[in-house]
Amino acid sequence: MSRLWRFVAAGLALLALGVGVFAQDQPEPSPAEEAKKQRQQLLEQGGGILPSDLYVAQGEELFKAVRGPKGVSLEGCDFGRGAGQVEGVVAQLPRYFPDTGRVEDLDSRIRSCMIGLQGFKPEEVKRSEVIAIAFYLASLSHEATVDVRLATPQEKRMYALGEELFWVRAGPRDMGCATCHVTYRGKRSGVLPLSDVVGEKVAAHWPAYRYSNDSALTMEDRIRTCYSNLGMPAPDYYSDAVIALGLWLAVQSNGAKMDLPGFIR
Ligand code: HEC
Repeated sequence: MSRLWRFVAAGLALLALGVGVFAQDQPEPSPAEEAKKQRQQLLEQGGGILPSDLYVAQGEELFKAVRGPKGVSLEGCDFGRGAGQVEGVVAQLPRYFPDTGRVEDLDSRIRSCMIGLQGFKPEEVKRSEVIAIAFYLASLSHEATVDVRLATPQEKRMYALGEELFWVRAGPRDMGCATCHVTYRGKRSGVLPLSDVVGEKVAAHWPAYRYSNDSALTMEDRIRTCYSNLGMPAPDYYSDAVIALGLWLAVQSNGAKMDLPGFIR
């Protein structure tokens, strides 16, 4: 072997050793640190634009477009602060709306306005459009403080339902939300550590862009996926069960500053 090759081989061996030691001794980066790094990388690749910005832009277009049988935009939708008020509204949802007689979350309220204001039939409301519009509204609530109140009997009832659904154990595995997110919080499920959804004020970063599979999700999507984790059929989108859990989680997040749209693994 030439001297040069011996030198290169020794270097490679050292490098391999170094990598091995590094992999063993370094604690794994936290999901938050990992997400921060990934976000930076995607920003650089996208020339300052994140994939979630594209959903926001698409949502803004849909929100302002004159559409539906009634030929109006969603700009007249009341998200709880009066028609046309959109800044910070995501931080105060879910809440009770007298016009529909329901406690509604962000997804459900967008759908209600597409039906009530624009005249779409329920079956015409596309999930992908609701998500894009949710991302747009979320971007207008960035850094707002989560402030979800239980001011009406309807809200109090929904909160109680959400609390019950969170703690109940059922299904083929006799498990509940709390099995993973309280009892086993911090433990890994596959690649992901289970978050403490009671203590970590997680509602402050939903809706969120999930970079591991390039998807845009709202809290409704997350809750429904977690029902599959339980081996149980997921309640329908916009149903009381999903909204009640979202309300319960949002109240646990009161006081947190929103970071929207969220950016998660
Ligand atoms: C079998 C385990 C399991 C069960 C049971 C489960 N989840 Fe999850 N959940 C996960 C995993 C895995 C994730 C993704 C990693 C994370 O964020 O914790 C997740 C994420 C979440 C998140 C997002 C957390 C964040 O930091 O943004 C919420 C909210 C959530 N789950 C709510 C629920 C609710 C409500 C229930 C009950 C209907 C439930 N989960 C039941 C496994 C579970």
